[in-house]
Amino acid sequence: MELSDVDELMKYWNYPELQQYHSRPRITSRDEELTWIRSTWERRQKGEAYIFGIFLIEKDQYIGNVELRVLSNIAQRGSLGIAIFNPEFWGKGFGTEASKLILNFGFSVLNLHTIELEVFSFNERALACYKKVGFVETGRKREAHFSGGNYHDIILMDISKREFVFTKKLMGDEN
Ligand SMILES: CC(C)(COP(=O)(O)OP(=O)(O)OC[C@H]1O[C@@H](n2cnc3c(N)ncnc32)[C@H](O)[C@@H]1OP(=O)(O)O)[C@@H](O)C(=O)NCCC(=O)NCCS
Repeated sequence: MELSDVDELMKYWNYPELQQYHSRPRITSRDEELTWIRSTWERRQKGEAYIFGIFLIEKDQYIGNVELRVLSNIAQRGSLGIAIFNPEFWGKGFGTEASKLILNFGFSVLNLHTIELEVFSFNERALACYKKVGFVETGRKREAHFSGGNYHDIILMDISKREFVFTKKLMGDEN
């Protein structure tokens, strides 16, 4: 991402529709997002996290972010985070495509062994997306999230390099 991408991000980032999927409200200003974009470069340089923008190739339109954080260099564990901030592009396959690309990067380039994530139980679109790329549920933090006046489970999921390679073969996906 470049600093010039901040304007597109700010059109949508503070929408309640999107905020409900964050673990805590992350209402931010334009300046805070500029600082965040700069921080993504630093974290990448240090090998802590690899954060990419998701762009529609044909229009060069910035629609979301995908993040792979390195949790342990010894166990080769990483975690995935993703947000398509522009709701117009939800449910159109971009999350699945971006998740597959970042998993491929994590396993093939960074040589990670497992990649994990956390997702709220009410986020059915995200759950469907993660299952499609091969994540499996490993546990739950029961009623650990409060949103919309109710408690919700946080679902823990992960995928190993071996499972990712197997899922790709099963789906006839050569990329
Ligand atoms: C989660 C997210 C990255 C998924 O990306 P996406 O491009 O919307 O998802 P995809 O289109 O690739 O796949 C979604 C799947 O869920 C299904 N789906 C869509 N809406 C659904 C719903 N309300 N309930 C159940 N399934 C749903 C779709 O049919 C699709 O499955 P299919 O391809 O088998 O038909 C994206 O929706 C997003 O950024 N949401 C807001 C932020 C967020 O939730 N981030 C994740 C936090 S853990």
